[in-house]
Amino acid sequence: MSDRVNFGSKLGIVLATAGSAVGLGNVWRFPYMTGQNGGAAFIIIYLGCILFLGVPGMVSEFIVGRHSQSNTARAYASFSSNKGWGAIGILGIITSTIILGFYAVVAGWCLYYLGESVVGNLKGDPAFVQSYFQAFSSDPVKPAALGVTFILITHFIIVRGVRDGIERASKLMMPTLFILLLVIVGASCMLPEAEKGLEFLFKPDISKVNGDVFLSALGQSFYSMSIAMGCICTYASYFSKSTNLPNSAMQIGVIDFFVALLAGLLIFPAAFSVGVNPDSGPSLIFITLPNVFQNAFGDPTLGYIVSVLFYILLSMAALTSLISLHEVSTAFLQEEIGTTRKRAAIGVTVACMVIGVICSLSMGAWSNVKLFGMTIFDTFDFVTGQLFLPLVGFLTCIFLGWFVPHKIVKDEFTNMGTLRNGTLFHFYLLLVKYVCPICILFIFLHQFGLI
Ligand code: TRP
Repeated sequence: MSDRVNFGSKLGIVLATAGSAVGLGNVWRFPYMTGQNGGAAFIIIYLGCILFLGVPGMVSEFIVGRHSQSNTARAYASFSSNKGWGAIGILGIITSTIILGFYAVVAGWCLYYLGESVVGNLKGDPAFVQSYFQAFSSDPVKPAALGVTFILITHFIIVRGVRDGIERASKLMMPTLFILLLVIVGASCMLPEAEKGLEFLFKPDISKVNGDVFLSALGQSFYSMSIAMGCICTYASYFSKSTNLPNSAMQIGVIDFFVALLAGLLIFPAAFSVGVNPDSGPSLIFITLPNVFQNAFGDPTLGYIVSVLFYILLSMAALTSLISLHEVSTAFLQEEIGTTRKRAAIGVTVACMVIGVICSLSMGAWSNVKLFGMTIFDTFDFVTGQLFLPLVGFLTCIFLGWFVPHKIVKDEFTNMGTLRNGTLFHFYLLLVKYVCPICILFIFLHQFGLI
């Protein structure tokens, strides 16, 4: 596998991996979870989860990926004579393909809202914005077509390859995303009564903290760092041998955390300034915010600009994550079937389009088709997010902590002893052997009501 491509630079590695991590999870999921779980107290716990569970989880996937220099399925199998471990990788590939399908649908909504805010259609009272979203998301054609559009954009970046496609797109989009974020945060924080939002974000209310808050923070930290679906492992297979794995994971964890925090700084001051409750759940981005943007900024032009910039930001964040999800299965097909990158990508794109269209229809025309009592969209979300994600995360920790020879893990962690981070390695091993698997087990048992 020595002719395998690599990322071209350290910056490329960090931006591409941060591109995978920074996504709808940061800008959409994190703010409403913070709203529902008590603001600052949740954020502090979340930061702890990122540092002590997310970062070691990411390092573990880095180690598997870089050591094997191959797609996720082969990567896990390459460490041990028991090829059964390859099943973890296969599970990651299945999960990422399904997620790609429905993530693209939500990304398509962002694209639609971008178009609608550009032409100025998102104006009206709260009831109008709500019925607007319901009518759109249950439409049989528009959301499916936009989801497919997003998958096609992803496809064309993927076929250009790791350096010219993934790395270049990330180097372009990630800095743009940071700038947009800072501009909108600035506008939002200058609104009258913005300080109420800041207080909510920065003043911890310990009385809100309970077991659920911990578990939500933990689940969100894994989701947000793209752990347990093969994305991180696949990207790491393109890292060079001199990449400092723990440092890179830490940098990405910090970037991911700050983007989420900035998304909170964007949404809460604006929401509080117009007196809207920020705990409105998943509809926050598509129902609450269009209203907030309209009303918060006295000048309609400013409201218009902020709204357009915000949906550009969301669409770009979604795109860099979609690219990483696509790469998992593309690398797998390309290497295992021995076909060209282009053909492999076409296979993945077609599969994801089918899944995406099914998910999209299940929000409207097929909403009465139920699997295990849920719509197809919700079933996919549940099976991947609540079942496969913790399972793969748990197995990865057990695999690295208990089955892979410690020498291999240490050599990767310390770059064959050249990094002099041996003490940190022992701490990492402790987290991966005991702390991470036990915490994941807790989330798992808790969500099935067993504890
Ligand atoms: N981390 C991304 C987000 O925050 C979503 C994502 C991309 C993801 N790849 C993943 C989540 C792999 C879990 C696993 O939106």
